[in-house]
Formats: sequence, C-alpha cells, structure tokens
Amino acid sequence: MQKKFFITTPIYYSNAVPHIGNAYASFIADTIARYSRLSKVDTRFSTGVDENSQKVVESAASTGMSVMDYADMMAKKHQDTWDALDIDYSDFIRTTESRHRDFVQKVLQKSFDNGDIYEWDYKGLYCVGCETFKKETDIVNGRCADHPNRELEQLSEKNYFFKLSKYQDQILEFFEKNPDFVKPRTRYNEIIEFVRGGLEDFSISRETNKFGIPLPFDSTQVTYVWYDALFNYLTVVQDDESKWWPADIHVIGKDIVKFHGIYWLAMLWSAGYVAPRQLLTTGYFTVDGQKMSKSIGNVIDPVAYIGEYSRDMLVLYLFTAFPIGEDGDFSQEQAILTFNAKLANNLGNLLNRSIALTLKLGWKLEWDTLSVWKEKIEKYSSLMDTQDLKWSIDLAFEYASEINKYVDENTPWKFDAEIDSDREKLESVLFYMIANLRKIAIMLLPFFDTKMRELLSRIGVPYDDAISLVENLSLDPVSFFIAEKGEPLYMRIGK
Ligand code: MSP
Repeated sequence: MQKKFFITTPIYYSNAVPHIGNAYASFIADTIARYSRLSKVDTRFSTGVDENSQKVVESAASTGMSVMDYADMMAKKHQDTWDALDIDYSDFIRTTESRHRDFVQKVLQKSFDNGDIYEWDYKGLYCVGCETFKKETDIVNGRCADHPNRELEQLSEKNYFFKLSKYQDQILEFFEKNPDFVKPRTRYNEIIEFVRGGLEDFSISRETNKFGIPLPFDSTQVTYVWYDALFNYLTVVQDDESKWWPADIHVIGKDIVKFHGIYWLAMLWSAGYVAPRQLLTTGYFTVDGQKMSKSIGNVIDPVAYIGEYSRDMLVLYLFTAFPIGEDGDFSQEQAILTFNAKLANNLGNLLNRSIALTLKLGWKLEWDTLSVWKEKIEKYSSLMDTQDLKWSIDLAFEYASEINKYVDENTPWKFDAEIDSDREKLESVLFYMIANLRKIAIMLLPFFDTKMRELLSRIGVPYDDAISLVENLSLDPVSFFIAEKGEPLYMRIGK
C-alpha cells in the first residue's frame, strides 16, 4: 500500500479576511503536514474558500461589486494571508471553480438516483450567520443564539431534502467501531448523543438564492452551501482520488463538528465514498478574556501580528497556551512572556552558551559516543503521531531546560583549557550540550522551520532532508563546527 497522508483545513467563508481564529486551524494543519513531509510521507494539504454563501453575496452587495469580482478579490486576499503566514498548503480550492461545480453535480446526481434526495415544500427560520435552519430550541428572543445581531429569515419554499434519517444506525455503528474518529473524546461523545436523539432529513437546496451550484436535476434551485462546501475535500483530489481518499485528518473547529461528524458521513456514503479517518476538533479561544468581535475591536489580524512580532511567537503561544480541543484565552501579555521564556531565554541561552564556549576554545568539536536520549525521541514521535502538539513543544523546551541545568551544574566556564584533564571534561560537556541542542532543534522543526534550520547550520550540522526526521533525531553526528558568534536567534521583547 502506498504511504500517503492527506490533511485539510475548513474552507473559510470568503466574506472577510482570515482572522487569528481561522489561522489557528491552518497553523495546526500546517504543522502536522510539515511533520508528515519531514517523516518522508507523501503528503497533501488542502485549504481554500467557501464562496457559495449568502454571506458572500451580502458582503459583495455592500461594496457595490459584482459577486464574482468580490469573490475573486477575497480569494486572493485569503491566499495572500496564508502565504504571508507561511502556511505550506499543496492545494487551494475555491468553491466557485468549475471543477468543484462539476464534481458536486456528479455526487448530487448519484444520491438523487439512489433515492436519497426528495422534494418537499418547506417552511422554517433560517440564520444566514450559521447558514442553517434553526429549531425553536435554538432561538433566543427571536434571534439565533450564536448570531444575535442578525434577523432570522422566514423561508417558505420548495426544497430538496437529503434522507439523513436513513443513515442514523449506520452512523452510530460507525462511531462504535471507530472510537478515535473524533478527537477530543468530549466531541465524540457529543455527536453520539446528538445522533441518538434522532436525526432529521435536511434541506440541500435553495429556491430563492441565485448564487451557488445549480442542482443537476432541477436547475431552478441552487445547492445548499454546506452540502457543496463539504465536498471540497474530494474535489481537490479528483486528479488521483483512489490514492488520496479517504482524507487522514480534517482539522475543524468545534462549531462545525456536527456537519463533519454527521452530515458529511451520510453524504459520502450516499455518493459511494468511505468516511474520512479522523476529525481533529479545535476549541475556541477568546482574546484577553473576551469573545473576538468587530464591535469590541479585539479581532487579531494574524498578518499584522506576525509583522509586529513573529510567526514563531504566534505559533508558540497558540500551541502551548492550551491543548488542541480545549477552549482557551489568547493573552497578549502571556504571548510575550512565553516567547521570552522559551525561545529567547531557554533555547536562545543554550545556543549562546554553546557557541560562546566553543569559540573561546576555538575548536572544531569531535566526539564519538553520547548517551542517547532514546526515550525522549520515542515520546516525541508518539506525541507528534497523535497530534499532541502542545505536549511535543513542551517536551522540547523541558529538554532544553534540562540541558541548561546540566550546564549550570557542570560549570564548564570554570575549566582551564590549558590543563589536559580540564580540557577533556570541557570537551565532554560541550559535546553533550551541542548534541542535545541539535536534537531539540530537530524536534521543533515542524513548528519553526526557518529558525531551526538556521540554528542547525550555525552549529555546523545542517538538517539532512534526505532522511526522515526521526532518523535525523536518532543519529549523532561526530563533529560540530561553529564558525562565528552571529546575532541571537531570537531577540527578547522588552527589557
Ligand atoms: N465555511 C465554513 C467551513 C466549511 S468546511 C467544509 C466555516 N468557515 S469559517 O470562516 O466560519 O471558519 C471556520 C473555522 O475557523 C472554525 O471551524 C474554526 O476552526 C475557526 N475559528 C473561527 N473562530 C475561532 C476562534 N475564536 N477560535 C478558534 N477557532 C476559531 O465555518
């Protein structure tokens, strides 16, 4: 069997530029994809924009542009954002592309032909914010609980419905057989409970909307945005579907887990496809204790943020402040403290000390044995393999602290290089420092690619791209060479 890995982000609504919450999902997918590539696995990583939404139509109208001109402009802005954030995706999909329209029409026709889609006159309250019909129980003071600033729309029209109810037992059975399908466990349990409560068929078309993919069997209707959006994950791999499907991981926010954990499975099965392997669900974070919102003015633009600070600072903080799956808070003060403590001080200090000592003695360092940190390597790879990114970064920095502590205890600066026995001790301490620093940098490579490669070349052992990350970690080079002191790798922020 071919070894491959296919990971996706949600496709983001294109009525606004991506904010830090969207970037969070993309950074996670990017890091996992980088780790996979570094592990020499054939990797595909897709992202894109969700364009056939009423929100996009409304935003276009407010700018006076045509919907397509507006969508073109916004798709470019999304791509520019991901490029600026160094999100190394392999595919970018726009749902207005003809390849997507053709594919969605093909799967709709399949489901229609096998009797899973039927016509019905429907009345209901629709929330454009969520792009879903709302039940009485979801409505608070006449508004959607998640979008209190929007009027609900009373829709009464002919719609086509998808027979979700038919798949209820199959979904439950699938969940029982695949206990790791949704991570974290709390979300998995939530879905099961929801499905046990009974599934209702859902509308997959709109009569009044004009922007979207026309149904192949009734061109007076356009496809419901969520039905078309989910299929983006298959559209992108149409060049080699049998190799890439099923997707290995869909990274999604907790707000869209029902669409992916319930609707998506039934839609796939109905069209003759197998389910994806895993949904990695992120929590939501607030900013300085408050929900991010335009009216509060605390929406963080990730591009401006990395311009002022750095990508590494943003990724470090987003990944270490709370584990994937949990809700958390983005505190600007903590972000700076974390950066200073971990990158500028802990790791930076280890590098500075290693360089300073080596230069003072003016040698090229050679050694042939090292007590291997085997258990650390094993722990690191098992954490990365289960996408426990917080614990992997934490492990690397704990490792750096241990080595710094070892240096403090061994006081290499006290040895006199002119005395043979001292010189020997000094060599051994230094070798130990640099050999372990190298391992720490390799562990951090999927997170901070540019700086870690720079660090490795500065200690004279550039990363070997011909072999896998774990092989790189397990091998100990026999020599290091430090040519010059250079600038600090990370400059402390503030005093
Ligand atoms: N277009 C749909 C997804 C379709 S996928 C087939 C959509 N788009 S979205 O633009 O609203 O962005 C969705 C994702 O952004 C969320 O699922 C979540 O991953 C992320 N986040 C948005 N705000 C967030 C926070 N405040 N915190 C963390 N992630 C958040 O839904």
